[in-house]
Amino acid sequence: MQIVVREYNTKDFKDLLEIDKEAFSSRNPAYDVYIYLTFGSDFLVADIGGKIVGYIATMDVDKNTGKIISFAVKKEFRGKGIGSTLLKRAIERLRTKGKKKILLEVRVSNLQAQRLYKKFGFRIEKVLPSYYSDGESAYLMSLEINEQ
Ligand SMILES: CC(C)(COP(=O)(O)OP(=O)(O)OC[C@H]1O[C@@H](n2cnc3c(N)ncnc32)[C@H](O)[C@@H]1OP(=O)(O)O)[C@@H](O)C(=O)NCCC(=O)NCCS
Repeated sequence: MQIVVREYNTKDFKDLLEIDKEAFSSRNPAYDVYIYLTFGSDFLVADIGGKIVGYIATMDVDKNTGKIISFAVKKEFRGKGIGSTLLKRAIERLRTKGKKKILLEVRVSNLQAQRLYKKFGFRIEKVLPSYYSDGESAYLMSLEINEQ
């Protein structure tokens, strides 16, 4: 299984939409993906033989801060290290751009993603009450990357 992490290309749109639909219970995944593509400053995908199996989108918050705005791996490909590879590459890119801090929001119930973020050194900064449209709260997590 040869995984290539590369930049998003418009021909990936259909795969991306499918991954997003499967990963998040959004009523309008096409709109969500449109938002990532419009506001995302970096958009990386994991490509296996020309098919996209995961993606990570980040944006610039300000000169020193970046944010992970969406991140998902296709269900059948989870638990194989693809998410970790994407997260590592996204952090490296933000560090190269001079960011000192990375933010993200995650559902309080999403323990799997939280475990992954903690493994990379992210810490919970605070709770954002009723952050999502279904009423669930989020953790605002952050990673300081000023050590290099
Ligand atoms: C979060 C997500 C992107 C991780 O992607 P992934 O490719 O599964 O990640 P990895 O294979 O690198 O695994 C990372 C860790 O997650 C856990 N994990 C991943 N898949 C798992 C599975 N099928 N069963 C149990 N644990 C699993 C493990 O702790 C693993 O770390 P370890 O291998 O050191 O034990 C993926 O689970 C996903 O798309 N989730 C739905 C969308 C989502 O929640 N996105 C984040 C929103 S903030």
